[in-house]
Amino acid sequence: MENEINIELIDREGALHNLIGPTDVNLNLMELIKLHELPVDGTCGGMAMCASCQIYVLNDVVSLEKSEDEQAMLDEAWHVQDNSRLACQIPISKEINGLKIELAPFNDDNHDDDW
Ligand code: FES
Repeated sequence: MENEINIELIDREGALHNLIGPTDVNLNLMELIKLHELPVDGTCGGMAMCASCQIYVLNDVVSLEKSEDEQAMLDEAWHVQDNSRLACQIPISKEINGLKIELAPFNDDNHDDDW
């Protein structure tokens, strides 16, 4: 449909999910992942303050450039790679149609939200 985009997501078990995202309701990628009931915490609500929405970008559909706040959070996060982004900092827009991402491991070993 005209106001929808497709995003491919690989979960932590290696399963591929096709996410459909509306571009006209001001969502970010973390919120879209949660809407599809996939396991991303989004603990800080999208403020770039928790890194629980970390993903790896697998194609060049979205820039790897980050704001200072996003970079500062990733500097403190676990499992960070060169292609890491915070999903909450990526707006759902037509420009990211076809994006392919992978969920990063949880930010701590026991996933007790004790960050
Ligand atoms: S939801 Fe907290 S950094 Fe993205």
